[in-house]
Amino acid sequence: QLPEPAEAFAARAVPSSTTFKPNILAGKVVFCTGGGSGICYRIVEVLLAHGATAAIMGRKADRLSAAAKQLSESTRRKCIATPGDVRKYDDVEKAVDATVKEFGRLDMVVCGAAGNFLAPIEGISPNGFKTVQEIDLLGTYHTVKATLEHLKRSHGSYVHISATLHYTAIPWQAAPSAAKAGVDALSNSIAVEFGPFGIRSNCIAPGMIQGTEGADRLTPKGAEDLVVSRIPTQRMGQKDDIANAALFLFSDAGNYINGTQIVVDGGAKHFPGPWLPYPDS
Ligand code: HXC
Repeated sequence: QLPEPAEAFAARAVPSSTTFKPNILAGKVVFCTGGGSGICYRIVEVLLAHGATAAIMGRKADRLSAAAKQLSESTRRKCIATPGDVRKYDDVEKAVDATVKEFGRLDMVVCGAAGNFLAPIEGISPNGFKTVQEIDLLGTYHTVKATLEHLKRSHGSYVHISATLHYTAIPWQAAPSAAKAGVDALSNSIAVEFGPFGIRSNCIAPGMIQGTEGADRLTPKGAEDLVVSRIPTQRMGQKDDIANAALFLFSDAGNYINGTQIVVDGGAKHFPGPWLPYPDS
């Protein structure tokens, strides 16, 4: 058993940690798909820093183990690697079983594993389209199916990492847009079916988050300023912006939030279309 996190560790992991006490998730266990890198890595780090223990799932076992070790070191909380591919139900079930075997319970589930590439509809092969649906949507369903019994017992909560792509439409993003629309719908269904069991299910829809594979793939080289110009808050999002939203949703403060999409995009969803700079003011 690792020691309780010191205030200092919580403070380092999340700049706004004064908002929440560092022990608000004490005794709680999180299972996170896609937790080995990017936004989900940071979500797990912030949940750990607030008293949770964690298991992260991803396809590349070596990278995942290194990430779990790093997360344990940076927060002084226990984090284990449970490798596998969310496209395969048996992998997910095995990972969830290993998590519950290790920690004895499960309270929070982050469905974050995602796949994405830019491609025009005519350029996506049936297998390419299917691959994205299988990672994003089927993978989320697999994770939900494998964890529901445990969350019923703990009155736990889901956070699904969705997107804002499908609120309008973005060229060359048909496959992930269709998949994330499905994730939103699935989350709403879980909220309605399992609300009576004390389970909550919500999505976070991130905008452009700096330093992530998603933002790198969607931002043409040299267009960074143009991208920022269409974000009303005039800055790229940070991983902490998403992690703070997840922490809020999982905390008691989010107790009545169920079946909704929390958009964390600096207001960008209200300003879609051509990425033009704001007029001079
Ligand atoms: C067209 C492509 C393609 C591309 C792959 N395919 N890349 N088609 N353009 N750029 C096609 C392949 O040709 C193949 O179809 C099928 O997709 C499967 O490809 P594989 O490489 O065999 O699959 P796999 O190795 O499992 O890789 C999955 C992947 C890959 C999704 C294609 O990109 C990946 O692993 N990504 C994981 C990381 C990631 O994408 N993270 C970003 C998430 S960001 P054929 O017909 O040839 O067999 C995100 C945020 C969105 O989701 C919102 C941001 C604001």
